Amino acid sequence: MKIILIGFMGSGKTSVAKILAKKLKIPLIEMDSLVVSESKRKDIKEIFEKDGELKFRELEIKIARGLSSLKDGVISTGGGVVINKIILDYLRNDGIVIYLRTSFANVSQRVGSFSQRPLFKSKKEAKKLYRFRKILYINYADIMISTNNRTIQQVADDIINEVT
Ligand code: S3P
Repeated sequence: MKIILIGFMGSGKTSVAKILAKKLKIPLIEMDSLVVSESKRKDIKEIFEKDGELKFRELEIKIARGLSSLKDGVISTGGGVVINKIILDYLRNDGIVIYLRTSFANVSQRVGSFSQRPLFKSKKEAKKLYRFRKILYINYADIMISTNNRTIQQVADDIINEVT
């Protein structure tokens, strides 16, 4: 089984993916970590600072291409994968795309105040991005799962109920 988790920064993709991989006994794939390894930089912040966002997006595409023949796994994506259609084209074949839907109030509470994320430096800018991205997440989703007022365990259970 292949599950692709999409959603805005702070929607819980990484934490939920860890639980799913364990419960479903399938590999966990963290795209952001693969991008960092591929870049030879220290972290995402450094990629954005030294190479720019465009380079980061190129690396995301490269990683997605490498994952296109994956059969089993939970892929935790970066929040911006939906801006390049090719990424979901590579990732989704025979997989289930799940959108972790979280209100902006909740994501900003989760990441806002201590964010190392280059695209969540200002709440105002992040909100614009959220509005723009929301429709893209909805378009790509096979299934939508709300994470508002739910623990990561509950969200993982909701997903397992849907996919098994
Ligand atoms: C990004 C989200 C981040 C990371 C990068 C860009 C985005 O991942 O890929 O900072 O464009 O929304 P998370 O969604 O895991 O925070």
